[in-house]
Amino acid sequence: MNNSDFTSGFWHYYIAFIIVLAMIGLVWLLWSQKAAKTNKPDESDTTTGHNWDGIEEYNNPMPKWWFYMFVLTMIWGVAYFVAYPGFGESKGMLAWSSKGQYQQEIKKADDEFGVIYKKYANMPIEQVADNPEARKIGQNLFNTYCIQCHGSDAKGSKGFPNLTDNDWLWGGDPATIHQTIKDGRIGVMAPWGPVLGEERVKDAAHYVMSLSRDKGFDEGRAQRGQVVFNSLPANCASCHGEDGKGTLGMAPNLTDDVWLWGNSEKNIIDTITNGHTNEMPAWNTFLDEDKLHLMTAYVWGLAPKEQRVKTVAKTDTPTAASAAQ
Ligand code: HEC
Ligand code: HEC
Repeated sequence: MNNSDFTSGFWHYYIAFIIVLAMIGLVWLLWSQKAAKTNKPDESDTTTGHNWDGIEEYNNPMPKWWFYMFVLTMIWGVAYFVAYPGFGESKGMLAWSSKGQYQQEIKKADDEFGVIYKKYANMPIEQVADNPEARKIGQNLFNTYCIQCHGSDAKGSKGFPNLTDNDWLWGGDPATIHQTIKDGRIGVMAPWGPVLGEERVKDAAHYVMSLSRDKGFDEGRAQRGQVVFNSLPANCASCHGEDGKGTLGMAPNLTDDVWLWGNSEKNIIDTITNGHTNEMPAWNTFLDEDKLHLMTAYVWGLAPKEQRVKTVAKTDTPTAASAAQ
């Protein structure tokens, strides 16, 4: 119970009173059982007088060791109330609180690991990415914060991007990855079903299919779909590009074999009809700058060394990063 739950002094006295009363009651009960009592006239009768189908109960006092164990628990109880919170509003002499203990543990961990994070904070991402100790810490952070969406192998699943394939929605250079993790991202593909209607959606889907495969789609639909793709009202090309190759930070490439939402006819029709709103949460409240640095290096380093997207100079446009893919 939190001390702030007591809005007036009344509850403090109420609870303290019950505790004291309970303690007195227990001491009295214990004392009353200390010695054998015979309230029967015949002193030689050592039973309590209770009789259950011929089974009688001896009226012996509690064994001594048992008696003292009770006394000990009582002393313990009193000592506990003196040291710890529990006696009404009393905070206890140790001023212990669960919140305080938690904060202490966090501080201890920060003191212990903060130094390690600091060490890597001053190292360039490229170097941290290949440091075995840093990778191990990064893996731990990943397992704590990222695994439930991106998977234990970081390869993602439907709706959650693969972080190891070096095919990026937002960009794979260290600065962009850093920003993605820090501030989060929301990928929005609007639902086009209501606007286009079933047939035109299907046509568009077959055109999309034709962008990444040689067969397995309807030629006629694909041709009509190309018109849908490149003209209003949908104008898919305005985001996905005329060639369907997408734009970093805008819309994914539809010509490769990396699919966030699946590449079957059914998947693609579903995506175009219903759209998607896909959120990568922001981590700046959980991960401080030092941890973000290490996490960025870890994610960047998931790709094979020669494939990683190099740091983009500030003057470059984001698409320059895709050229390195
Ligand atoms: C609640 C689920 C969730 C968690 C947890 C999560 N992510 Fe994500 N992440 C996503 C989604 C969804 C996207 C794709 C957003 C989009 O569609 O644009 C994404 C995208 C990304 C991207 C961009 C990929 C690209 O292709 O550009 C990176 C990098 C990333 N996440 C890293 C991380 C890291 C590191 C963590 C842990 C600190 C993490 N994510 C935790 C859901 C999550
Ligand atoms: C406003 C920009 C925009 C427009 C217009 C747009 N899209 Fe998209 N599209 C996106 C984004 C962003 C995503 C990724 C959504 C996510 O991150 O989950 C996407 C995803 C997709 C996917 C899934 C890709 C995958 O990897 O699974 C398909 C297929 C697709 N769009 C087709 C279309 C078609 C067809 C149209 C026109 C009818 C269209 N899009 C119009 C932005 C757009």
